[in-house]
Amino acid sequence: MEGKKCMSKLRSGLSRIRKGMREASAGFSALRAGPGTGAAPASTEELRSPTEELRSPTEESRSPTEESRSVTSAGYWTQHNVTQHRRFATAEESLAYFQWRCDQYQPYLDLLPVAGHDGKVVLDYGCGPGHDLVGFAHYSNPARLIGMDVSPSSLDEARLRLGVHNLEAEYELVDENNARISLDDESVDYVHSSGVLHHVPDPVAVLREFRRVLRPGGEIRVMIYNYDSLWLHLYTAYVVRLEEGRYADLPICEAFRHLTDGPHCPISNVYRPAEFLSLATEAGLAGEHLGNALAMHELSLLPKRFAAVLDERFPREHRHFLLDLTFDERGHPFWQGERAGVDGCFRLWRS
Ligand SMILES: C[S@@+](CC[C@H](N)C(=O)[O-])C[C@H]1O[C@@H](n2cnc3c(N)ncnc32)[C@H](O)[C@@H]1O
Repeated sequence: MEGKKCMSKLRSGLSRIRKGMREASAGFSALRAGPGTGAAPASTEELRSPTEELRSPTEESRSPTEESRSVTSAGYWTQHNVTQHRRFATAEESLAYFQWRCDQYQPYLDLLPVAGHDGKVVLDYGCGPGHDLVGFAHYSNPARLIGMDVSPSSLDEARLRLGVHNLEAEYELVDENNARISLDDESVDYVHSSGVLHHVPDPVAVLREFRRVLRPGGEIRVMIYNYDSLWLHLYTAYVVRLEEGRYADLPICEAFRHLTDGPHCPISNVYRPAEFLSLATEAGLAGEHLGNALAMHELSLLPKRFAAVLDERFPREHRHFLLDLTFDERGHPFWQGERAGVDGCFRLWRS
């Protein structure tokens, strides 16, 4: 089945991406120099993202694959971020945005809670412009709150956003070519990493670092993109490939990569829960799949499932995924007992 080949295909794709990243190291310096110096354009042409604000999909003018290869992860994420570099004038505005964004993914906050971490050392790995840092600092009272990211601009924006709340955290720039986390062994109580590990070249290396810095008895919560989702089986496989005729010749996981965090995002992988848990095992971690959060975008597309199933061109794998959906009393779709949402959420601990 096409999906089963995704992991090996992604692994072989990684060496190609790494090669492209090395070749493009000069491009990163250009990106840091500012707009108009070789940077990818701002994200007005990008598609909807599972983790970004929902925006209208439009056609992009250049080849996404070529563009992706010319930019490092750090370069890309310096130019693009989940708030689109939004500045918040007041704590009320920032908090209202925090609540609005969490509401777009149901039930994200139950699966990756920011409350209940009083007195803990909390690491938000891949914190971006500080969305969840605001949550941890506002709804908990951690002993230490540390935000790490490859994007200097996002770290700056995180610092500014927490400053608007008069809240503090520590900020650390991560080197995308070195998974080492600059914290002591067994020094962290709670590692949170939301929407990050599917963007890194070697997730097992990062998970090993999570294990190293985690205190015995500590906990890791991770969100990564879920293969068993409407984002993949309805949005990618039907709406984009068949209705819109885009990315139709690419393998499904490669098409998905262009449809999450912008068409030029250099790495955006997607995992079945068992695939992700086996990566955690490789890193010396035990874990459980807590469930998936559904994006409102996925819910809004649900009526299209009938047209998809009726379409003879629609591949059997995706047709059966849609035919097998069940629904709860709120109208949330489930597949094999799990919400059919794109945000796969996991709890991990030292085995
Ligand atoms: C989709 S954003 C999620 C941001 C934030 N966690 C949130 O939910 O708002 C992905 C983040 O991962 C960061 N990232 C990408 N590669 C990384 C790496 N190798 N190490 C750490 N962070 C990375 C990006 O800079 C970006 O901020």
